[in-house]
Amino acid sequence: MLNRLTDEQYSQVYQWAIREKLIDQQDNSVIFFDFDILNNRLEHLRDTFPEHVQHAIAIKTCPLIQVLKHVLDHGYSLEAASFEELQIAQVAGAGSNHLVFDSPAKTRSEISQCSQQISGAIININTLDELERFPTDIKNPVGIRINPLVKADTVSLYNVSGMESKFGVPISRKEDIIQACLQYPFINGLHIHIGSQLKTLDANIKAIGSIIALADEIEQQTLRKVEFVDIGGGFPANYGKGKQESLDWYVNEIQSHYPDFFQRFKVITEYGRFVYAHTAWLVSHVEYLLKHEADATPIAIIHNGGDMFPREIYQPNPIRHQITVLEPDGNLKTAPSQPHHIGGPLCYGGDFLGKNYELPKIEMDDKLVVADIGANTFSLWSRHCSRSFPKVIGYSLQHQKIYCLKKREDIQDIIRFWGG
Ligand SMILES: Cc1ncc(COP(=O)(O)O)c(C=O)c1O
Repeated sequence: MLNRLTDEQYSQVYQWAIREKLIDQQDNSVIFFDFDILNNRLEHLRDTFPEHVQHAIAIKTCPLIQVLKHVLDHGYSLEAASFEELQIAQVAGAGSNHLVFDSPAKTRSEISQCSQQISGAIININTLDELERFPTDIKNPVGIRINPLVKADTVSLYNVSGMESKFGVPISRKEDIIQACLQYPFINGLHIHIGSQLKTLDANIKAIGSIIALADEIEQQTLRKVEFVDIGGGFPANYGKGKQESLDWYVNEIQSHYPDFFQRFKVITEYGRFVYAHTAWLVSHVEYLLKHEADATPIAIIHNGGDMFPREIYQPNPIRHQITVLEPDGNLKTAPSQPHHIGGPLCYGGDFLGKNYELPKIEMDDKLVVADIGANTFSLWSRHCSRSFPKVIGYSLQHQKIYCLKKREDIQDIIRFWGG
């Protein structure tokens, strides 16, 4: 399975973009998006799971329209966490039976529009209170998101399966869930998503077992079939140098614990990070190098901080992205390594992408490549200090194609955002 490029490849692709005149003086940072890695990840999903599993890729992780279009063109579906994401997906060409709608804050009007306009889309409810907002003759497949109350092996911010979670109906409310299935005959699915960047998958496997047991009881009491089970996302990306978690192992485990799972239900997945994390990387210009005392660790000021990396910067124990240093012309920097802090451009003290990075001695006008930014980085873009969202360059080494996938935001875009 493809992971990230080598340092030499970063240098080659960056210089390729320069030769193609895709980068200009105002591009103080550029995002590169790799379609070979995307294809490889998508194919891996399809090849590893049984053929009829529907993979709805989580839009929130990487909402670039051209990328959504690519995902759809290759036969995959999309998972929308908001009504706006549903609309973005439709602009990208999603037919209604390639959509899963999961927002925890669905309004009456959104539910009504879904039922009238995209009746093939799966809607997963987050709370039983949503049900009375549904028309009784709704055609959409409707699932209940269940909180299986397992201990997800991830940092607390990504864990959504504790009793204090705002997601899903706790499985301990089994009687209420069954009562809802009796009262609302249009419910025909169950949904779980226990958390993201899961270090181990055992809790997910256990959660699938609880869902199957719940489906048994629902079927016994309602005499109706639970048609689909959506097992959510959560499979991790590998930001370090070690091996990627094995999806084959995970799928085999599900099959050996629950041999008829994939035959009994239509199974849906909602992976985001696993698909996208390694597809994109950033090249950011070192605008200044600060060193106020002779023995201080130098601080490289680059053009992306908490605006592109809010989770890395605001959260304890953040993901640490690998960094590569290029010379101003894009050649790999080979100077001896020393510690550096990497500072962003925003106006608050904590705006550091990371501290104590051992890197070849950085100088002003070098370029820093930040790896693995395809998931949950630029998709969480913040307007703090009103900086422009960078240009995105798409490429495929395999097909020898490189082009501007999204232009850099200009000042008019920002003025419009702020109501100008
Ligand atoms: C309901 C739901 N599905 C899928 C995902 C995607 O998860 P991941 O990126 O960990 O695969 C998320 C992420 O937060 C989610 O909330």
